[in-house]
Amino acid sequence: MAAIYIVGSLNMDVVIRAPVCPRAGETVAGGGFMTNCGGKGANQAVAAAKLGGDAHMIGCVGEAFGEELSEALERYGVHAEGVLRMEGVPSGVAVILVTEGDNRIILDAGANALLTGERVCRALENAAAGDWLVCQLEVPVPTVETALRFAKERGMHTLLNPAPALPLPDSVFPLCDWFAPNQSEAEFYTGIYPDSEESAKACAAALAARGAGDLILTMGADGSACVSGGKYLHVEAYPAEVVDTTGAGDTYIGAFVTRIAEGADLTEALEFASRAASVTITRRGAQQAIPYRREL
Ligand code: RIB
Repeated sequence: MAAIYIVGSLNMDVVIRAPVCPRAGETVAGGGFMTNCGGKGANQAVAAAKLGGDAHMIGCVGEAFGEELSEALERYGVHAEGVLRMEGVPSGVAVILVTEGDNRIILDAGANALLTGERVCRALENAAAGDWLVCQLEVPVPTVETALRFAKERGMHTLLNPAPALPLPDSVFPLCDWFAPNQSEAEFYTGIYPDSEESAKACAAALAARGAGDLILTMGADGSACVSGGKYLHVEAYPAEVVDTTGAGDTYIGAFVTRIAEGADLTEALEFASRAASVTITRRGAQQAIPYRREL
């Protein structure tokens, strides 16, 4: 099976629930405080590993929470040799407010900001043609670009989950075999909000004009879609009781790449990813909420 290298963030999530989001100057009563391991990169690596993929994490942790974040990866079966411990900085921290069916996140990048392209290339030394590289945007954009370029030169498959949406240089798009945003991220990059076959195809065409490959689109309760070679595929979301949506998109990405790396066809991979994400939203937290394969 092809290996999956995930370049990205590791965060300690500091979570509290509230019935509504407070306005400026307002205090609301909340509850259910917890800390748990997260970060878009680490969540995607954990999703891949829990779901049967050969997942390798590349990232940086700091002094505060560094050990817990690395240990969590190992516990879930991720190869964590590519995770570096940086001195004198905290790890990334995400403060998450969970309200009815939604969440709001404030992120302090901490050690994630110290991941350089050079460090990533060193960690990718053993990667081979046919392996996968998966990136998001919680580590510096120049690092992501270097990683994608290195992977393309090596003949790897590349997928960029552009979350959170940030301006990207034109040179990044041709390095992405797969571009995998949610709807608002897709709108950020194309000016088109994709909520139908026509608008998804228009998004894919706008991204292709900038050089990107195929489009994978996550649409929450409306399921997910793919535009590959001009062909549109849509998969319904599995009905599930929403407890906490944190990490659902990350589960989807990790699951999709895992099935594709195993040789599944596109429809199978989309359905598998959708099923996995539907389990994550029924549980609290990020990595701890992601299902193992046997649970699907
Ligand atoms: O995608 C969910 C993740 O985003 C959380 O785990 C949090 O760390 C933020 O990075």
